[in-house]
Amino acid sequence: MRRLRLLTGGESHGPALTAILEGLPAGLELDREAIDAWLARRQHGFGRGGRQRIERDTVEVLGGLRDGRTLGSPLVLRVVNRDWENWREVMDPWRVDPGAAAARRVTRPRPGHADLSGGLGTAQTEDLRNVLERASARETAARVAAGSVCARFLGRYGIAIRSGVLQVGPHVVHRGAPDWDLLGGVDPGSPLVTPDPPGEERLVEAVREARERGETLGGVVGAVVRGLPPGLGSHVHWDRKLDGRLARAVMSIPSVKAVVLGEGLEVASRVGSEAHDAIVPGERGLTRPTNRAGGLEGGVTNGADLVVRAFFKPISTLRRGLPSVDLATGEPGATAWERSDVTAIASAPVIVEAMLALVLADALLEVLGGNAMADVDAAWEARTARLAPWWSPADRG
Ligand SMILES: Cc1cc2nc3c(=O)[nH]c(=O)nc-3n(C[C@H](O)[C@H](O)[C@H](O)COP(=O)(O)O)c2cc1C
Repeated sequence: MRRLRLLTGGESHGPALTAILEGLPAGLELDREAIDAWLARRQHGFGRGGRQRIERDTVEVLGGLRDGRTLGSPLVLRVVNRDWENWREVMDPWRVDPGAAAARRVTRPRPGHADLSGGLGTAQTEDLRNVLERASARETAARVAAGSVCARFLGRYGIAIRSGVLQVGPHVVHRGAPDWDLLGGVDPGSPLVTPDPPGEERLVEAVREARERGETLGGVVGAVVRGLPPGLGSHVHWDRKLDGRLARAVMSIPSVKAVVLGEGLEVASRVGSEAHDAIVPGERGLTRPTNRAGGLEGGVTNGADLVVRAFFKPISTLRRGLPSVDLATGEPGATAWERSDVTAIASAPVIVEAMLALVLADALLEVLGGNAMADVDAAWEARTARLAPWWSPADRG
Protein backbone atom coordinates (compact mmCIF):
# COMPACT_ATOMS: atom_id res chain seq x y z
CA MET A 1 0.00 0.00 0.00
CA ARG A 2 1.51 3.29 -1.07
CA ARG A 3 -1.02 5.96 -0.14
CA LEU A 4 -3.29 4.25 2.36
CA ARG A 5 -2.45 2.26 5.46
CA LEU A 6 -4.81 -0.02 7.32
CA LEU A 7 -4.14 -1.44 10.72
CA THR A 8 -6.68 -3.57 12.54
CA GLY A 9 -6.61 -4.59 16.20
CA GLY A 10 -8.69 -6.56 18.65
CA GLU A 11 -9.50 -10.15 19.53
CA SER A 12 -12.53 -12.18 18.54
CA HIS A 13 -13.98 -12.23 22.09
CA GLY A 14 -12.27 -9.07 23.31
CA PRO A 15 -14.07 -5.76 23.86
CA ALA A 16 -13.97 -4.59 20.23
CA LEU A 17 -12.36 -4.71 16.81
CA THR A 18 -10.66 -1.52 15.66
CA ALA A 19 -9.51 -0.29 12.26
CA ILE A 20 -7.22 2.66 11.67
CA LEU A 21 -7.31 3.79 8.05
CA GLU A 22 -4.75 6.44 7.27
CA GLY A 23 -4.19 8.42 4.08
CA LEU A 24 -7.72 9.31 3.01
CA PRO A 25 -8.00 12.82 1.60
CA ALA A 26 -9.88 15.41 3.65
CA GLY A 27 -13.45 16.15 2.63
CA LEU A 28 -14.75 12.68 1.75
CA GLU A 29 -18.36 12.44 2.83
CA LEU A 30 -19.21 9.24 4.70
CA ASP A 31 -22.49 7.64 5.58
CA ARG A 32 -22.83 5.60 8.77
CA GLU A 33 -25.75 3.55 7.45
CA ALA A 34 -23.69 2.51 4.42
CA ILE A 35 -20.85 1.22 6.65
CA ASP A 36 -23.36 -0.64 8.83
CA ALA A 37 -24.96 -2.16 5.73
CA TRP A 38 -21.57 -3.61 4.73
CA LEU A 39 -21.11 -4.97 8.26
CA ALA A 40 -24.56 -6.57 8.08
CA ARG A 41 -23.63 -8.28 4.79
CA ARG A 42 -20.63 -9.84 6.54
CA GLN A 43 -22.92 -11.38 9.13
CA HIS A 44 -25.45 -12.62 6.67
CA GLY A 45 -25.80 -16.07 5.18
CA PHE A 46 -26.82 -19.66 5.64
CA GLY A 47 -24.28 -21.87 7.40
CA ARG A 48 -22.95 -19.31 9.88
CA GLY A 49 -22.63 -20.26 13.55
CA GLY A 50 -24.70 -19.01 16.47
CA ARG A 51 -22.52 -15.97 16.98
CA GLN A 52 -24.12 -14.06 14.12
CA ARG A 53 -27.37 -14.13 16.06
CA ILE A 54 -25.71 -12.65 19.14
CA GLU A 55 -23.85 -9.90 17.33
CA ARG A 56 -25.34 -7.10 15.28
CA ASP A 57 -22.32 -5.16 14.21
CA THR A 58 -22.42 -1.39 13.97
CA VAL A 59 -19.62 1.09 13.51
CA GLU A 60 -18.45 3.78 15.90
CA VAL A 61 -16.08 6.47 14.69
CA LEU A 62 -13.42 7.54 17.20
CA GLY A 63 -11.37 9.88 15.03
CA GLY A 64 -10.75 11.37 11.60
CA LEU A 65 -14.33 12.43 10.91
CA ARG A 66 -16.25 15.61 11.66
CA ASP A 67 -19.76 16.43 10.56
CA GLY A 68 -19.72 13.38 8.29
CA ARG A 69 -16.56 14.37 6.39
CA THR A 70 -13.05 13.03 6.65
CA LEU A 71 -10.46 15.36 8.17
CA GLY A 72 -7.36 13.92 6.52
CA SER A 73 -6.29 12.46 9.88
CA PRO A 74 -6.42 8.73 10.60
CA LEU A 75 -9.97 7.41 10.45
CA VAL A 76 -10.50 5.32 13.57
CA LEU A 77 -13.36 2.83 13.43
CA ARG A 78 -14.57 0.54 16.17
CA VAL A 79 -16.94 -2.41 16.07
CA VAL A 80 -17.91 -3.48 19.57
CA ASN A 81 -18.14 -7.22 20.35
CA ARG A 82 -21.55 -7.60 21.92
CA ASP A 83 -20.54 -11.04 23.21
CA TRP A 84 -17.75 -9.46 25.30
CA GLU A 85 -19.78 -9.49 28.52
CA ASN A 86 -19.94 -13.31 28.32
CA TRP A 87 -16.16 -13.53 27.83
CA ARG A 88 -14.95 -10.89 30.23
CA GLU A 89 -13.63 -13.34 32.80
CA VAL A 90 -11.69 -15.21 30.11
CA MET A 91 -10.51 -12.31 27.97
CA ASP A 92 -10.06 -9.39 30.37
CA PRO A 93 -7.01 -7.37 29.23
CA TRP A 94 -5.67 -6.98 32.79
CA ARG A 95 -6.64 -10.01 34.78
CA VAL A 96 -8.49 -13.09 33.70
CA ASP A 97 -10.27 -15.32 36.16
CA PRO A 98 -7.97 -18.37 36.41
CA GLY A 99 -10.85 -20.85 36.75
CA ALA A 100 -12.79 -19.41 33.80
CA ALA A 101 -9.64 -19.22 31.67
CA ALA A 102 -8.73 -22.84 32.49
CA ALA A 103 -12.23 -23.98 31.44
CA ARG A 104 -11.72 -22.26 28.09
CA ARG A 105 -8.08 -23.29 27.59
CA VAL A 106 -7.35 -24.76 24.16
CA THR A 107 -4.49 -27.24 23.93
CA ARG A 108 -5.47 -29.40 20.94
CA PRO A 109 -4.61 -27.43 17.80
CA ARG A 110 -7.09 -27.65 14.92
CA PRO A 111 -5.53 -28.80 11.66
CA GLY A 112 -6.06 -26.02 9.14
CA HIS A 113 -6.30 -23.23 11.71
CA ALA A 114 -3.54 -20.98 13.04
CA ASP A 115 -3.52 -22.72 16.44
CA LEU A 116 -0.33 -24.77 16.08
CA SER A 117 1.64 -22.58 13.70
CA GLY A 118 0.79 -19.39 15.62
CA GLY A 119 1.25 -21.08 19.01
CA LEU A 120 4.71 -22.34 18.11
CA GLY A 121 5.58 -19.04 16.46
CA THR A 122 4.74 -16.91 19.48
CA ALA A 123 5.54 -19.38 22.29
CA GLN A 124 1.94 -19.59 23.46
CA THR A 125 1.37 -23.33 23.26
CA GLU A 126 0.14 -23.50 26.89
CA ASP A 127 -3.13 -21.89 25.76
CA LEU A 128 -3.82 -21.65 22.04
CA ARG A 129 -6.65 -19.24 22.77
CA ASN A 130 -3.95 -16.55 22.82
CA VAL A 131 -3.52 -17.25 19.10
CA LEU A 132 -6.95 -18.23 17.86
CA GLU A 133 -8.64 -15.16 19.29
CA ARG A 134 -6.73 -12.99 16.86
CA ALA A 135 -6.50 -15.44 13.95
CA SER A 136 -10.30 -15.68 13.98
CA ALA A 137 -12.02 -14.19 10.95
CA ARG A 138 -13.92 -11.91 13.32
CA GLU A 139 -11.06 -9.54 12.46
CA THR A 140 -12.57 -9.12 9.00
CA ALA A 141 -15.32 -6.97 10.55
CA ALA A 142 -12.68 -4.24 10.94
CA ARG A 143 -11.52 -4.75 7.34
CA VAL A 144 -15.08 -4.57 6.03
CA ALA A 145 -15.75 -1.31 7.89
CA ALA A 146 -12.59 0.24 6.42
CA GLY A 147 -13.17 -1.31 3.00
CA SER A 148 -16.66 0.18 2.81
CA VAL A 149 -15.11 3.62 3.25
CA CYS A 150 -12.68 2.91 0.41
CA ALA A 151 -15.59 1.74 -1.76
CA ARG A 152 -17.31 5.04 -1.00
CA PHE A 153 -14.22 6.86 -2.26
CA LEU A 154 -14.15 4.77 -5.45
CA GLY A 155 -17.88 5.27 -5.94
CA ARG A 156 -17.35 9.00 -6.21
CA TYR A 157 -15.58 8.31 -9.51
CA GLY A 158 -18.18 5.87 -10.78
CA ILE A 159 -16.16 2.78 -9.80
CA ALA A 160 -18.45 0.03 -8.52
CA ILE A 161 -18.00 -3.52 -7.24
CA ARG A 162 -20.26 -6.55 -7.50
CA SER A 163 -19.68 -9.95 -5.97
CA GLY A 164 -21.34 -13.26 -5.23
CA VAL A 165 -20.84 -16.92 -4.40
CA LEU A 166 -20.08 -19.09 -7.46
CA GLN A 167 -19.62 -22.42 -5.71
CA VAL A 168 -20.37 -23.98 -2.31
CA GLY A 169 -18.26 -27.06 -1.64
CA PRO A 170 -18.51 -29.18 -4.80
CA HIS A 171 -21.79 -27.54 -5.87
CA VAL A 172 -21.11 -25.18 -8.77
CA VAL A 173 -23.47 -22.30 -9.59
CA HIS A 174 -21.19 -20.76 -12.20
CA ARG A 175 -18.01 -22.30 -13.55
CA GLY A 176 -15.23 -20.01 -14.76
CA ALA A 177 -14.75 -16.26 -14.49
CA PRO A 178 -17.86 -14.24 -13.63
CA ASP A 179 -18.88 -11.06 -15.43
CA TRP A 180 -20.69 -7.88 -14.41
CA ASP A 181 -24.09 -8.97 -15.70
CA LEU A 182 -23.92 -12.37 -14.03
CA LEU A 183 -23.23 -10.78 -10.65
CA GLY A 184 -26.09 -8.35 -11.22
CA GLY A 185 -28.31 -11.39 -10.57
CA VAL A 186 -27.09 -11.76 -6.97
CA ASP A 187 -29.75 -11.07 -4.35
CA PRO A 188 -27.80 -9.92 -1.27
CA GLY A 189 -30.66 -11.11 0.90
CA SER A 190 -30.67 -14.68 -0.41
CA PRO A 191 -29.28 -17.38 1.90
CA LEU A 192 -26.07 -18.02 -0.07
CA VAL A 193 -25.80 -14.84 -2.19
CA THR A 194 -25.29 -16.66 -5.49
CA PRO A 195 -26.24 -15.28 -8.92
CA ASP A 196 -28.98 -17.93 -9.05
CA PRO A 197 -31.26 -17.23 -6.06
CA PRO A 198 -34.03 -19.65 -7.17
CA GLY A 199 -31.44 -22.43 -7.58
CA GLU A 200 -30.02 -21.96 -4.08
CA GLU A 201 -32.28 -24.48 -2.37
CA ARG A 202 -30.06 -27.41 -3.40
CA LEU A 203 -27.01 -25.57 -2.00
CA VAL A 204 -28.83 -24.81 1.23
CA GLU A 205 -29.64 -28.52 1.43
CA ALA A 206 -25.95 -29.37 0.90
CA VAL A 207 -24.98 -27.07 3.77
CA ARG A 208 -27.68 -28.65 5.94
CA GLU A 209 -26.36 -32.11 5.13
CA ALA A 210 -22.80 -31.05 5.92
CA ARG A 211 -23.99 -29.71 9.26
CA GLU A 212 -25.74 -32.98 10.07
CA ARG A 213 -22.56 -34.91 9.33
CA GLY A 214 -20.49 -32.55 11.49
CA GLU A 215 -18.70 -31.42 8.32
CA THR A 216 -17.77 -28.02 6.88
CA LEU A 217 -17.61 -26.57 3.36
CA GLY A 218 -15.62 -23.98 1.44
CA GLY A 219 -16.40 -22.48 -1.93
CA VAL A 220 -15.63 -19.88 -4.57
CA VAL A 221 -16.43 -16.17 -4.60
CA GLY A 222 -16.42 -14.01 -7.73
CA ALA A 223 -16.09 -10.24 -7.87
CA VAL A 224 -16.09 -7.71 -10.70
CA VAL A 225 -15.05 -4.05 -10.50
CA ARG A 226 -16.41 -1.73 -13.19
CA GLY A 227 -15.25 1.75 -14.09
CA LEU A 228 -11.53 1.54 -13.27
CA PRO A 229 -9.51 3.82 -15.51
CA PRO A 230 -6.54 2.37 -17.39
CA GLY A 231 -3.14 2.89 -15.81
CA LEU A 232 -3.60 1.94 -12.14
CA GLY A 233 -0.67 -0.06 -10.84
CA SER A 234 2.73 -0.24 -12.49
CA HIS A 235 4.45 -2.20 -15.23
CA VAL A 236 7.80 -1.09 -13.80
CA HIS A 237 8.36 -2.59 -10.35
CA TRP A 238 7.34 -6.01 -9.05
CA ASP A 239 6.05 -4.65 -5.77
CA ARG A 240 3.85 -2.02 -7.41
CA LYS A 241 2.21 -4.31 -9.95
CA LEU A 242 -1.50 -4.25 -9.24
CA ASP A 243 -2.09 -7.93 -9.97
CA GLY A 244 0.33 -8.85 -7.19
CA ARG A 245 -1.12 -6.28 -4.80
CA LEU A 246 -4.67 -7.49 -5.38
CA ALA A 247 -3.74 -11.15 -5.11
CA ARG A 248 -1.94 -10.53 -1.83
CA ALA A 249 -4.86 -8.62 -0.34
CA VAL A 250 -7.45 -11.23 -1.31
CA MET A 251 -5.17 -14.11 -0.29
CA SER A 252 -4.84 -12.54 3.16
CA ILE A 253 -8.53 -13.22 3.85
CA PRO A 254 -8.73 -16.19 6.22
CA SER A 255 -9.41 -19.46 4.35
CA VAL A 256 -8.52 -18.13 0.88
CA LYS A 257 -6.10 -20.55 -0.73
CA ALA A 258 -6.14 -19.39 -4.37
CA VAL A 259 -6.83 -16.16 -6.20
CA VAL A 260 -7.48 -16.06 -9.94
CA LEU A 261 -7.54 -12.91 -12.08
CA GLY A 262 -9.76 -13.05 -15.16
CA GLU A 263 -9.53 -16.43 -16.88
CA GLY A 264 -6.05 -16.97 -15.44
CA LEU A 265 -6.79 -20.57 -14.47
CA GLU A 266 -8.30 -21.50 -17.83
CA VAL A 267 -5.81 -19.79 -20.19
CA ALA A 268 -2.93 -21.85 -18.81
CA SER A 269 -4.18 -24.77 -20.90
CA ARG A 270 -5.09 -22.81 -24.06
CA VAL A 271 -3.10 -21.69 -27.09
CA GLY A 272 -2.12 -18.03 -27.31
CA SER A 273 -4.66 -17.08 -29.95
CA GLU A 274 -7.43 -18.19 -27.55
CA ALA A 275 -5.91 -16.69 -24.44
CA HIS A 276 -5.71 -12.94 -25.04
CA ASP A 277 -8.08 -10.05 -25.77
CA ALA A 278 -7.93 -8.50 -29.23
CA ILE A 279 -7.67 -4.69 -29.35
CA VAL A 280 -10.17 -3.20 -31.79
CA PRO A 281 -11.23 0.37 -32.56
CA GLY A 282 -14.57 1.28 -31.01
CA GLU A 283 -16.92 4.23 -31.32
CA ARG A 284 -15.39 6.04 -28.34
CA GLY A 285 -11.86 4.68 -28.14
CA LEU A 286 -10.51 1.15 -28.00
CA THR A 287 -12.56 -1.87 -27.11
CA ARG A 288 -11.99 -5.55 -26.36
CA PRO A 289 -14.45 -8.17 -27.57
CA THR A 290 -13.33 -10.46 -24.72
CA ASN A 291 -12.00 -9.91 -21.21
CA ARG A 292 -9.90 -12.97 -20.53
CA ALA A 293 -7.19 -10.89 -18.85
CA GLY A 294 -9.75 -9.70 -16.31
CA GLY A 295 -8.87 -6.02 -16.59
CA LEU A 296 -5.13 -6.24 -15.95
CA GLU A 297 -2.17 -6.44 -18.32
CA GLY A 298 1.42 -6.01 -17.18
CA GLY A 299 0.30 -5.33 -13.61
CA VAL A 300 -1.71 -2.30 -14.80
CA THR A 301 -5.47 -1.81 -15.27
CA ASN A 302 -6.41 -1.71 -18.96
CA GLY A 303 -9.86 -0.09 -18.61
CA ALA A 304 -11.83 -3.34 -18.80
CA ASP A 305 -13.74 -4.80 -15.85
CA LEU A 306 -11.49 -6.22 -13.14
CA VAL A 307 -12.47 -9.86 -12.60
CA VAL A 308 -11.38 -11.79 -9.51
CA ARG A 309 -12.14 -15.21 -8.09
CA ALA A 310 -11.22 -16.27 -4.56
CA PHE A 311 -11.15 -19.94 -3.54
CA PHE A 312 -11.99 -20.68 0.11
CA LYS A 313 -11.06 -23.90 1.87
CA PRO A 314 -13.60 -25.53 4.23
CA ILE A 315 -13.77 -24.24 7.82
CA SER A 316 -11.31 -26.11 10.02
CA THR A 317 -13.45 -26.36 13.18
CA LEU A 318 -15.49 -29.52 12.58
CA ARG A 319 -18.14 -30.70 15.01
CA ARG A 320 -16.96 -34.25 14.32
CA GLY A 321 -13.38 -33.19 15.17
CA LEU A 322 -10.09 -33.78 13.38
CA PRO A 323 -7.07 -35.82 14.53
CA SER A 324 -4.70 -33.78 16.65
CA VAL A 325 -2.41 -33.98 19.66
CA ASP A 326 -2.98 -32.48 23.09
CA LEU A 327 0.02 -30.21 23.58
CA ALA A 328 -0.37 -30.39 27.38
CA THR A 329 -0.11 -34.19 27.56
CA GLY A 330 1.40 -35.23 24.21
CA GLU A 331 -1.53 -37.63 23.77
CA PRO A 332 -3.38 -37.91 20.47
CA GLY A 333 -7.00 -36.77 20.52
CA ALA A 334 -9.69 -35.22 18.38
CA THR A 335 -10.07 -31.45 18.27
CA ALA A 336 -12.81 -29.86 20.34
CA TRP A 337 -15.74 -27.96 18.83
CA GLU A 338 -16.72 -24.51 19.93
CA ARG A 339 -19.57 -22.63 18.22
CA SER A 340 -18.38 -22.36 14.65
CA ASP A 341 -19.56 -21.91 11.06
CA VAL A 342 -20.43 -24.84 8.77
CA THR A 343 -19.54 -22.56 5.91
CA ALA A 344 -18.77 -18.86 5.91
CA ILE A 345 -18.93 -18.58 2.15
CA ALA A 346 -21.98 -16.28 2.13
CA SER A 347 -20.05 -13.76 4.24
CA ALA A 348 -17.04 -13.88 1.97
CA PRO A 349 -18.17 -11.72 -0.98
CA VAL A 350 -18.31 -8.53 1.08
CA ILE A 351 -14.88 -9.29 2.57
CA VAL A 352 -13.44 -9.77 -0.93
CA GLU A 353 -15.08 -6.48 -1.96
CA ALA A 354 -13.52 -4.75 1.05
CA MET A 355 -10.01 -5.94 0.22
CA LEU A 356 -10.40 -5.01 -3.45
CA ALA A 357 -11.72 -1.57 -2.51
CA LEU A 358 -8.80 -0.98 -0.17
CA VAL A 359 -6.15 -1.83 -2.76
CA LEU A 360 -7.93 -0.03 -5.60
CA ALA A 361 -8.50 3.14 -3.57
CA ASP A 362 -4.80 3.07 -2.74
CA ALA A 363 -3.89 2.60 -6.42
CA LEU A 364 -6.25 5.38 -7.55
CA LEU A 365 -4.88 7.81 -4.96
CA GLU A 366 -1.39 6.85 -6.06
CA VAL A 367 -1.98 8.13 -9.60
CA LEU A 368 -4.25 11.04 -8.70
CA GLY A 369 -2.42 12.36 -5.61
CA GLY A 370 -3.98 15.05 -3.44
CA ASN A 371 -4.73 15.53 0.24
CA ALA A 372 -8.14 17.11 -0.32
CA MET A 373 -11.05 15.70 -2.25
CA ALA A 374 -11.16 18.87 -4.37
CA ASP A 375 -7.60 18.15 -5.56
CA VAL A 376 -8.37 14.49 -6.21
CA ASP A 377 -11.47 15.51 -8.21
CA ALA A 378 -9.43 17.91 -10.33
CA ALA A 379 -6.80 15.25 -11.01
CA TRP A 380 -9.53 12.77 -11.97
CA GLU A 381 -10.96 15.26 -14.48
CA ALA A 382 -7.52 15.95 -15.98
CA ARG A 383 -6.72 12.27 -16.28
CA THR A 384 -10.07 11.42 -17.80
CA ALA A 385 -9.54 14.20 -20.38
CA ARG A 386 -6.10 12.83 -21.30
CA LEU A 387 -7.48 9.31 -21.69
CA ALA A 388 -10.51 10.47 -23.69
CA PRO A 389 -9.25 9.34 -27.12
CA TRP A 390 -8.76 5.82 -25.73
CA TRP A 391 -11.12 5.33 -22.85
CA SER A 392 -14.20 6.92 -21.43
CA PRO A 393 -15.74 6.16 -18.03
CA ALA A 394 -18.95 5.32 -19.94
CA ASP A 395 -17.22 2.65 -22.06
CA ARG A 396 -16.86 -0.02 -19.44
CA GLY A 397 -16.58 -3.76 -19.61
C1 LIG B 1 -16.07 -14.99 7.25
C2 LIG B 1 -15.23 -16.11 7.78
C3 LIG B 1 -15.68 -16.82 8.90
C4 LIG B 1 -14.94 -17.88 9.39
N1 LIG B 1 -15.44 -18.57 10.45
C5 LIG B 1 -14.72 -19.61 10.95
C6 LIG B 1 -15.24 -20.39 12.02
O1 LIG B 1 -16.36 -20.16 12.51
N2 LIG B 1 -14.48 -21.41 12.48
C7 LIG B 1 -13.25 -21.71 11.95
O2 LIG B 1 -12.61 -22.62 12.41
N3 LIG B 1 -12.74 -20.99 10.93
C8 LIG B 1 -13.44 -19.95 10.41
N4 LIG B 1 -12.93 -19.24 9.37
C9 LIG B 1 -11.63 -19.62 8.81
C10 LIG B 1 -10.45 -19.31 9.71
O3 LIG B 1 -10.49 -17.98 10.15
C11 LIG B 1 -9.13 -19.61 8.99
O4 LIG B 1 -9.15 -20.89 8.44
C12 LIG B 1 -7.95 -19.52 9.97
O5 LIG B 1 -7.81 -18.18 10.39
C13 LIG B 1 -6.62 -19.99 9.36
O6 LIG B 1 -6.23 -19.21 8.28
P1 LIG B 1 -6.05 -19.82 6.82
O7 LIG B 1 -7.26 -20.65 6.54
O8 LIG B 1 -6.01 -18.63 5.91
O9 LIG B 1 -4.80 -20.62 6.80
C14 LIG B 1 -13.68 -18.20 8.80
C15 LIG B 1 -13.24 -17.50 7.69
C16 LIG B 1 -14.01 -16.46 7.17
C17 LIG B 1 -13.53 -15.71 5.96
